[in-house]
Order: sequence, then C-alpha cells, then structure tokens
Amino acid sequence: MNFQSLFRKKSVSATHDQGDAHSPQLVRNLSLRDLTFMGIAAIIGAGSFSSLGQACYSGGPGVVILFIICAIACGFTALCYAEFASRVPASGSAYTYAYVSFGELFAWVIGWALLMEYSIGNIYVAFSWSGYFTNLLDGAGVHMPEWLTINYRSASAAFRDGIQGEGFQAWTNAPKIGSLRIIFDLPAFMINVLITWLVYVGVNESRKVSNFMVLLKLFIIVVVIVTGAFFIDIDNWTPFMPNGFGGVMGGAAAVFFAYIGFDAVSTLAEESKNPMRDLPKGMMYSLMICTVVYVLLALVLTGMVSYNALGVSDPLAEVFKLKGVKWMLYFVSIAAVVAMTSVILVFQLGQPRIWMSMARDGLLPKRFAKIHPKYKTPGFSTIMTGAVVGIPIFFTDETFVLDFTSIGTLFAFVLVCGGVLLLPKAEKVEGVKQRFRLPHINGKWVVPALVVATFALLLNDDSDYTKELFQFNNTNLSAKLPMWIFLILCVVMAVMSFMRNLSLIPVLGVLSCCYLLTGMAPSNWLWFGVWLLIGLVVYLLYGFRKSKLARQS
Ligand code: ALA
Repeated sequence: MNFQSLFRKKSVSATHDQGDAHSPQLVRNLSLRDLTFMGIAAIIGAGSFSSLGQACYSGGPGVVILFIICAIACGFTALCYAEFASRVPASGSAYTYAYVSFGELFAWVIGWALLMEYSIGNIYVAFSWSGYFTNLLDGAGVHMPEWLTINYRSASAAFRDGIQGEGFQAWTNAPKIGSLRIIFDLPAFMINVLITWLVYVGVNESRKVSNFMVLLKLFIIVVVIVTGAFFIDIDNWTPFMPNGFGGVMGGAAAVFFAYIGFDAVSTLAEESKNPMRDLPKGMMYSLMICTVVYVLLALVLTGMVSYNALGVSDPLAEVFKLKGVKWMLYFVSIAAVVAMTSVILVFQLGQPRIWMSMARDGLLPKRFAKIHPKYKTPGFSTIMTGAVVGIPIFFTDETFVLDFTSIGTLFAFVLVCGGVLLLPKAEKVEGVKQRFRLPHINGKWVVPALVVATFALLLNDDSDYTKELFQFNNTNLSAKLPMWIFLILCVVMAVMSFMRNLSLIPVLGVLSCCYLLTGMAPSNWLWFGVWLLIGLVVYLLYGFRKSKLARQS
C-alpha cells in the first residue's frame, strides 16, 4: 500500500465538474432567502426546546455565556465554511472541502464524522419531537400507551433506578414476546418515515414546507420571549453561575447542539441558484438570527424561574406551567413540533447529498449517487438515511446520541477551519467570479498575544478549578487531560501563527471549537474513537481501492 495515496487530493476545479452528464441532475431552485430559511430550519429545534433545559440546570443564568462562546465558535466556523462554499460549490459540504485541503483519508473521516451530525443528530431530534407530540395528543385527549412513546433504554433505566413516571410505567405495562418487552418510540419512528418520504419526492416540496415551518416557529418563539419577559424576576439571575464555570461548561454538548445546522446549508450547493454568493450569506444570516433568539430565550427562561426548575426535557412548556399560563403550553408544544420537524427535514436533506458526493468520488458504492429520474433527488441515499436514523430509534437513548452528535460535529468543524489554513490562493474558475472572500487578518501577533493573555489570566486565577488544573498529578485526570491538550494546542498555534503569518479567523475557529471539545465527557471520546476506527477499516477495505483518484493514478 502506498502511504502517500491516503492523502491524494482533489483539485478545486475538479469539484466544479460533478456528476455524470448522462444521468439526471439536481435542480437549482433555492434562492438566498430559501437558504437562510433552510439554515434557521436546521438550527432551531431540539436544542432550544429540549436540551436547553439541562444546560440551564447545569450552568444557571450563566449559560448565556456558553451561548455566546458557541456563537463565536460557530461564527468563525461559518466564515470558514463560507470561504469553502464560495470556492467549492459542490454538495458534499465539509467532506468535499476536506478532500481539496487535507486529502482523501481526512475527507473520508469527515464524511464518516458528519454521519454523527446529520443522522445521529436526527435521532435525538426525533425523540424530542415525540415528547412534545405526545404532549399535544394528550392535550387533545388522545393517550398513547407509554410503551409506544419512550425508548427501550430510558424505560429500562427508569425501572432499574425506581424513577416513577413514563419510563417506569412503560416497563411495567409493556407487552412481551418471550422475555423481551416491546417498548419503542413510535412517533419518533413515524416522523422519520414521513420526512424520508418528503425528502425523497423533491427539494421543491421540501423547501415550501420548510419555509412555512420556519416562519411559524419564529413567530411562536417571539411570542414566547415577549410573553415570558413579563414574568422575569431579576432575582433569578443571581447567583449568575451557581455551579461555577465548570457548571456552565457542563452544558457544552447541549448548547452546541442547539447551533448545529447552519452548515447544512452548504450541502445544498447544487440546488442553489447562485451558490458562490448565496451559500456564505445564507449560513451567516441564519446563524446571526438564531444567536439573537437563543440569547434572549436563555435570559427569559432563567429570569422567569429558578434555574433549578429547568432540568426537564420540555423547559419552555415547564416555565409557563409553573407560571400558570396554560394557553402557552399548547402554543409552545405546537412550535416545538414544527421546529423539530424542520430540523429533521433539513438534516434528512443533507445526509444523502454528502453520501452522493462520496459515491461520485468512488468512496461509496455508485448507487448512493444515483438521482431519481422523476423526483430528481438522490433516492437510494435518501432511503438509506431514513434507515440509519430509523433503526437506532429502537435501541438508543437521548443522552448518548446528543453527546455523540456534538463531538462528531465539532470534530468536523475543527477540520473545516484547519482546512482553510491549507487552501491554496483562490483558483480562478473559468466564467465564475468568486463572490465571498474570508477577510485575511494576519494572526502573527494577535494569536500569540491572545494565548499569552489566556495563560496570564489562568495563572492569576485562584478559583479551585484553575488551581486543580495546574496540579500535575493523577487526580481527576480525565477532566484535566482535555484542557491540558487544549493549552498545548494553543501554544502550537501561537508559534505557527507567528512563523507562518496564519490567517486569524480560521485559527480562532480551530481554537474555539477545540475549546468546546474539552467540555465533552471522556467516555464519549472513547465511543467516538471506536466509531472513527470502524470508519478507517471501512475506508481501507472499500474506498481506498475504489476511489476515482486511485483509478486515475
Ligand atoms: N440545532 C438543531 C436542534 O437544535 C440540531 O435541533
């Protein structure tokens, strides 16, 4: 095996020439407004309606800081995505970007990691969707048996720990086949089937549905913020960080999850009317709008009730329940169902398009790239996505998939920002004017100065967290190790920026995403490592030999 061929690269111009001229192509009908709406559709969902509660419970009102940190990290990353999207307007998103900057092996690894974001992320959203949907049904007097509305693992854990409630009842009342209890989340499964069908029959249909859902969810969220603002008691904002900064960072996976999605816009390059101009703008606009919404939402929620009351799976409904505003409960549940439906829709659009790009490059079987002759969508990939989301619904639970999604996505973001640092000077593409340019700010002095300032702050900080961080012993190693690695990375980036005049924005993108990675639980790192290892084996057995570039060389 030739080691170097693992890093064979695709040229930027080769990505402009995609697909097979004799087979049906995707249709370009998405405008800037559609793309921005698609971004918002993908961003605001389970993160704001479900996981936000856990983040507020862990960090208190200080979770607002985490929302801002995540917005900064995502903002830098979005700029890097935008730079790539304007140069490489092909469907594969970060996967294609990695192919031109880091080479094939990394591209495969990113494609493999993105499965976490799009498919595994959708499992979490489908579970949360089901929670709010069953609330609505209950409100309408339709009660589904518990064993059909919760996943098996959660029910079994609730029974084992003796926690009364939905899970416990599901376990006790479930029908059995032999000794196996039949417990699964039927609504979560059904929404996946429905969206898979919608995405299969066409992007135009998906766009109309998605645009409508975005308007509705933005409207309802504004009503939540405005109504909630009347119930704010500023005493709830103190103490600002009841569990210290460690508590705030404990919500990293949940808050970051809330931002995931802006990048899904970049998978729609080949269905966009003017991808070089509109993709970058669509990503940035959607991210900015959502950041404002999130910060306001977090302030309102933590202002309305004590952070202690927010550790539930439906925090937006809970606050109004506690305040006795009954009509808002239905309002919020409808918004949640709509918001999450649109997230599932956009992610379910994104995943097949990444697979399509990988298959075009020979890294996956050709069928993944086939466009349906009538519907003009990647039909086989769409159905496979439905299966990858739908089957695990029967045997995973929310917490696991949430953390897994955030690690996989952050990992991909780090590589995208790093990839921008490796991009050659913009290649001129015949007949195409590059519309977006990442502003080049020289990081030569700024990055080292920032790193020195960070160390100075840390060394002068006498909080327990920092003191323990600088005790180089084995106590609490699993919590300290990620932070040590991060600090070493900061020094390396500072030296490299100084020596090579690296561009500031991508460097800050790499560092801020790596910082968020330090907030992920070590056990999930282990799972993620296993996942990457499996990906490597699949690549070596299939993609490495079948790659288009392998056949060309
Ligand atoms: N950001 C998306 C959500 O919160 C994934 O549902």
